[in-house]
Amino acid sequence: MSVTVRRMTPQDTEAVLSVNETITGRPHEAQWESRIIDLLARNPLGCLVAEVEGKVAGFILGDIRGWEFAIPKSGWIEIVGVDPGFQGKGIARALIEKLGLYFRNHNVEKILTMVDWNDAGLVGFFRALGFERSEFIVLEKETVRK
Ligand SMILES: CC(C)(COP(=O)(O)OP(=O)(O)OC[C@H]1O[C@@H](n2cnc3c(N)ncnc32)[C@H](O)[C@@H]1OP(=O)(O)O)[C@@H](O)C(=O)NCCC(=O)NCCS
Repeated sequence: MSVTVRRMTPQDTEAVLSVNETITGRPHEAQWESRIIDLLARNPLGCLVAEVEGKVAGFILGDIRGWEFAIPKSGWIEIVGVDPGFQGKGIARALIEKLGLYFRNHNVEKILTMVDWNDAGLVGFFRALGFERSEFIVLEKETVRK
């Protein structure tokens, strides 16, 4: 199977949303389309798709951000998704490696992402790619109804 990783274009949005719908098994939220368009406009080199025989089989949305939460400028993986029919074939690895090159070329030394620590599969996936638990943690609190 030959996999091509290339830059995402606005024309890929529908295919990307369709891969995401296949993963989640439900229609995408309305905000998703505009988030992809926004990210593509702001950071076109950080948004990639993986094609297998001309079909979009996976995608990754990445961004370079810093200073919020006192985190140094870092490369963020916002979301990575692979069509279930193509999972387990190294597509996400190929997408993350290509995104990592882009980050390195922009003098970014660290790649960050956020996952549910209880999702052992996802944590295992990122561990397989060399990711480790960060020193940063998320704090949360219920909003109070008045
Ligand atoms: C997580 C996901 C992106 C992995 O995509 P994939 O193309 O199947 O992953 P790859 O085939 O590139 O796997 C890369 C490595 O991770 C490992 N891996 C993949 N899934 C794993 C899991 N559930 N548990 C442990 N390791 C896993 C693979 O064994 C592989 O290791 P290797 O290269 O050393 O053999 C895909 O399963 C997916 O789209 N999941 C749903 C969406 C999601 O949860 N996205 C992440 C949130 S942003």
